[in-house]
Amino acid sequence: MKIEREVILAPMAGYTHSAFRRLCRRLGADRVYSELMNATGIVFKGEEKELIYFVDEERPIHLQIYGRNAEEIAEASFKIAEKYKPEAIDINFGCSVKKVLKAKAAGYLLQFPKVMGEIVKETVKALKPLGIPVTAKIRLGFYEDTLEEIAEELLSAGVSAIALHPRRAVDGFSGVANWDRVRDLKRIADSVPVIGSGDVRHWREIDQKFEETGCNGVMLGRAAVSNPWIFKEYREKRDLEVGLKERVEFVLEELEMMWEYFDRERACKVIKAQISQIFKGIRGKARLNDLVMRSKSCEELTSRLKEIASL
Ligand SMILES: Cc1cc2nc3c(=O)[nH]c(=O)nc-3n(C[C@H](O)[C@H](O)[C@H](O)COP(=O)(O)O)c2cc1C
Repeated sequence: MKIEREVILAPMAGYTHSAFRRLCRRLGADRVYSELMNATGIVFKGEEKELIYFVDEERPIHLQIYGRNAEEIAEASFKIAEKYKPEAIDINFGCSVKKVLKAKAAGYLLQFPKVMGEIVKETVKALKPLGIPVTAKIRLGFYEDTLEEIAEELLSAGVSAIALHPRRAVDGFSGVANWDRVRDLKRIADSVPVIGSGDVRHWREIDQKFEETGCNGVMLGRAAVSNPWIFKEYREKRDLEVGLKERVEFVLEELEMMWEYFDRERACKVIKAQISQIFKGIRGKARLNDLVMRSKSCEELTSRLKEIASL
């Protein structure tokens, strides 16, 4: 897999569905990831359809799976890779929210590098006939930083790229992302692309990360949710002053595209989360938040947003 100096939209549950990814690609993101999707749900219940949904415009896209054991993850990966032909299947080994840890999946597995290796190996084997590579997104470790051990297992299992959020699972989002470890990972994993993820807030920091660590991709997560124009800013190498009207138009366009795969209730919930981020630090934010809170239906929310956009 070839990744060279790419700026990538990070996977974010509740935010990086098809419409948002599409808009980020239009603004200059080089690659996108889906949010994590449960392997058991895919294999046994036919779930996650609205999260699997994507259009060609979003490519290159990695569909991200999480689960507890190798057979299930490999089976789920094959199922969606065969049907949707993404550029890669990504395995989540980073998420450490309660529900996922309780299920002994995703970030929980950072405690067991050998199991991580097995999962990747089985999935690589399953996807080989389709020619679709397997990538992994990891943290430094669970309680301890065991990056070297984890990297070794993943590499010998045939992983095609590794994205690292350089915090331990127990850190959650506290402290700072340790990009020195992205540099270390690149040294160990020089045969595959390495992507760094964590705390990049301004477009100017992106080149700095490439230069300081030698990584092949920089992922943008929270910064992209509140400012998707960061991809354009990086491409044009300048700050963009994006005002209220343009932000409202972005949200409306996103909402419009969401009807393709979300029902009204889900779309409304998701867009409200986006709204609470994208108007941060903008004049008129209080009024907008008030409007969002008071809207009783998706229709009401849409027409109020339209009113603001036409002002
Ligand atoms: C709301 C939210 C949801 C996330 N969901 C996922 C996910 O589904 N899969 C994943 O690998 N990482 C997930 N992450 C982690 C991000 O991909 C990223 O590694 C992390 O936020 C650090 O980058 P940032 O500082 O640029 O946000 C999530 C992060 C946030 C804030």
